[in-house]
Amino acid sequence: MPNADINLKCRKPGALSTRVHLLQSHVRVLATATALSLGLVAVSQVADAASAMVKVDESSFHCIRQMSPVRHFYVDNLLGNIAGTVAAANAPKGAPYPPGSVVQLVPGEAMVKREPGFSPATGDWEFFELEVNGTGTKINKRGFADVNNQFGGNCFGCHAPAREPWDFICESDHGCEPIPIDHKMTGAVQRSDPRCGEPVLESGDTLALWKIRSIRFIGKTRAWFKSLL
Ligand code: HEC
Repeated sequence: MPNADINLKCRKPGALSTRVHLLQSHVRVLATATALSLGLVAVSQVADAASAMVKVDESSFHCIRQMSPVRHFYVDNLLGNIAGTVAAANAPKGAPYPPGSVVQLVPGEAMVKREPGFSPATGDWEFFELEVNGTGTKINKRGFADVNNQFGGNCFGCHAPAREPWDFICESDHGCEPIPIDHKMTGAVQRSDPRCGEPVLESGDTLALWKIRSIRFIGKTRAWFKSLL
């Protein structure tokens, strides 16, 4: 009996400490696993934010004047980062626009910044030729280096000279070949976007709209002649 007692006394603390050690190591493994998985979740959330899919369909476009005005054009962001888009548009020396950015000068054309790496050649910009009326927006053409406007001019070809540092945004002085449409005319088209309801024309807008229609007519006739040759 005394031997058994001694045995008990000797064995018990040993067994207990083994169990405590086992428990401690389980807790450590569990804690490490939890920390790791929490870390992974955090990392994947950051990665998700950076590579969130930019979904673009007809519902992505609406009344141009409800977008955020920057100088003579309008911007938006389909991922909600309007502040980032406005900051890029206002950067005095140019800056890359964040994913989700939408840029429009007139209701019928748009550039949308897709997710990083989507189209490196076009700086991840997708070009859109749109048709708008009182009921909404129809996407006529969309794509990357292969989209032409209604006069047969290639969007990417014209915007490419503004690649650096303006992220393909031409404005009036970023190196693109100028277009025969001034800001009085684009303003008049913005003020008569049929998706916004009644036009809110300023003085001189009727003449500007007439000029732009004539330029469109001549441009379309030229494109038609070219297509015959
Ligand atoms: C003939 C050359 C040319 C073609 C073709 C062209 N653009 Fe542009 N685009 C310009 C120029 C130049 C401006 C700047 C006009 C200004 O503000 O004075 C401009 C302005 C814009 C803007 C406003 C932001 C900016 O870059 O200043 C958007 C958006 C745009 N174009 C989209 C398109 C899309 C989409 C297409 C094709 C469907 C297209 N453009 C075709 C030359 C072109």
